[in-house]
Amino acid sequence: MGVQSAPPPWLAQGKAKAEAVQEIFGTVAPTYDRVNGWLSFGQHQKWRAHAVTTLQLSQGDAVLDLCCGTGDFLPLLRNAVGASGTVIGLDFARPMLEHARTKTSGAILGVGDALSLPIADHSVDAVTIGWGLRNVGDPARALAEMARVLKTGGRVAILEMSQPNAPIIGPIANWGCQFVIPKFGRIAGFGDEYAYLAQTTARWMSRRELTDALKSAGFGNVGIKNFMFGNICLHTATRMEGNP
Ligand SMILES: C[S@@+](CC[C@H](N)C(=O)[O-])C[C@H]1O[C@@H](n2cnc3c(N)ncnc32)[C@H](O)[C@@H]1O
Repeated sequence: MGVQSAPPPWLAQGKAKAEAVQEIFGTVAPTYDRVNGWLSFGQHQKWRAHAVTTLQLSQGDAVLDLCCGTGDFLPLLRNAVGASGTVIGLDFARPMLEHARTKTSGAILGVGDALSLPIADHSVDAVTIGWGLRNVGDPARALAEMARVLKTGGRVAILEMSQPNAPIIGPIANWGCQFVIPKFGRIAGFGDEYAYLAQTTARWMSRRELTDALKSAGFGNVGIKNFMFGNICLHTATRMEGNP
């Protein structure tokens, strides 16, 4: 009889996943930005800039970057809301936040859980979350929290991994994500940290499922834009009136 190995903790939900995810990002924090540049072929800042543009922010707005990690969204958000605006970055991995502190001045940075935001109801104009939603233990709850803190009419921009959908190139890109990235991670001296990326991407919501989850959380006007052959997907949505 074969021995069945337990699934890795990041494929669990709730507390077990949160602990595994915190450990992973504590480990990769020092090299996170460099590897992000390699894996995105230097494109991730363009995708972030596009996401921020779609939010149509005004000077003086309040914005929250959830799961802010090393803070690459923060300077773009500061630029969009100006000196009179408020930029908040939250993450539950302190080592990632330490890097965020070096990227922008004047942002309010804090340790916070996406599933229980330390932010008042209807207090922010927009929320960004880059490659964060796939990592939380309960994505539906995180979306509900985003809806709670957003003003009616406020906007959310979610950048995430997705299933590549371009003809011909799509399956090749998928293969790269599933097999090349974990190997690359090992060559770069990591353990399972980049297998994590491949495995969670393979199990992540489809575009349609994420759209439905947004609608269930009280969002509407959902828009979708694909990058890198559909390997990366931006969902944008508006916080509708009333409570879901
Ligand atoms: C892939 S990194 C993305 C970082 C950053 N947003 C970016 O665009 O590069 C995912 C981040 O989500 C954070 N995270 C995961 N689950 C979280 C939770 N429940 N609450 C707060 N942060 C969380 C991790 O600590 C990590 O920094």
